[in-house]
Amino acid sequence: MRKELSLRTPDDWHVHLRDGDLLTVVAPATAAQFARAIVMPNLRPPISSVAAAAAYRQRILQALPSGSGFEPLMTAYLTDNIAPAEIERGFVERVWTAAKLYPAGATTNSDAGVTAIDRIEPVLAVMERIGMPLLIHGEVTDPEIDIFDREAVFIERVLEPLLGRHPGLKVVLEHITTSDAADFVRSGPPTLAATITPHHLHINRNALFAGGLRPDFYCLPVAKRELHRLALRAAATSGNPRYFLGTDSAPHSRAAKESACGCAGIFNAPFAIESYVEVFDQENALERLEGFASEFGPRFYGLPLNQGRITLVREPQPVPALVEGPANDQALVPFHAGTTLNWQLVRRQTG
Ligand code: NCD
Ligand code: ZN
Repeated sequence: MRKELSLRTPDDWHVHLRDGDLLTVVAPATAAQFARAIVMPNLRPPISSVAAAAAYRQRILQALPSGSGFEPLMTAYLTDNIAPAEIERGFVERVWTAAKLYPAGATTNSDAGVTAIDRIEPVLAVMERIGMPLLIHGEVTDPEIDIFDREAVFIERVLEPLLGRHPGLKVVLEHITTSDAADFVRSGPPTLAATITPHHLHINRNALFAGGLRPDFYCLPVAKRELHRLALRAAATSGNPRYFLGTDSAPHSRAAKESACGCAGIFNAPFAIESYVEVFDQENALERLEGFASEFGPRFYGLPLNQGRITLVREPQPVPALVEGPANDQALVPFHAGTTLNWQLVRRQTG
């Protein structure tokens, strides 16, 4: 049995680092595991200008211990009114790496998102021309559509026609949760990829109701049936470069989750790589982890591979019930809280 694993330092291609006091708690957790991360722009107000993205990037760097070497890759929050010229300028000036499409109302802080995709046609045309990736929260917001079907319906109604209109546009379907999405990406054009979270590889929708209502397992897109979880595990461990790592770590305080209208989001940053290793180990695919975690993402984005390495050892890794938050009443419940994982991250070299 394999006891040690050495990997090229991984990157997280989808993370929520938040802002203010919470940023100082969660950004170091991501920086301790990953060399780079695609940082989601769904702040209040959203990051929809080059200036706001540059300022947010500085706040992230200031929240990290000196010498962490972590590189935040910024994204633009697309709105109905964002100017194509602003998108292009931010990309050319290397302030942002990609742009994020939130259908308005689909998830946390998405109210300012896009109300109909036709509204951003000129922006999409610019992105296609300059090679800027479009990152998509792939759920329809139509209240008539069952929440468990919203991803599959989005693919049919929005994504497929979009790829037809913009054959040169690089698209990442974020945090996929269904076999429909995994199949669509597998059989789609080489300009299409998907990120997969640790939680969607570990839990199905039963976790939300195990012994009572379990807000710590609530996120969007919501976990689906077991057959979908199995399809995601097969996709992630397949060695297909169109699927890569994106944690969607999305912290909310325990109080905000355990309320009458609890927030969507799972905070998996502290033990993210250990969580993925567990899955690849269970699937007898440890040799395929490096591609998924450290190579396929940068290749899709056209960025250099990290030169550093990390080491994991097969040693019990207890996960605390709570992680200290920025204030007494703002503790965070990490994914896998109160359980013990089988692998430990022991060394992190930058470079
Ligand atoms: C995210 C958040 O809290 O910002 N929540 C989540 O459940 N994943 C938003 C998102 O990515 O959908
Ligand atoms: Zn997200």
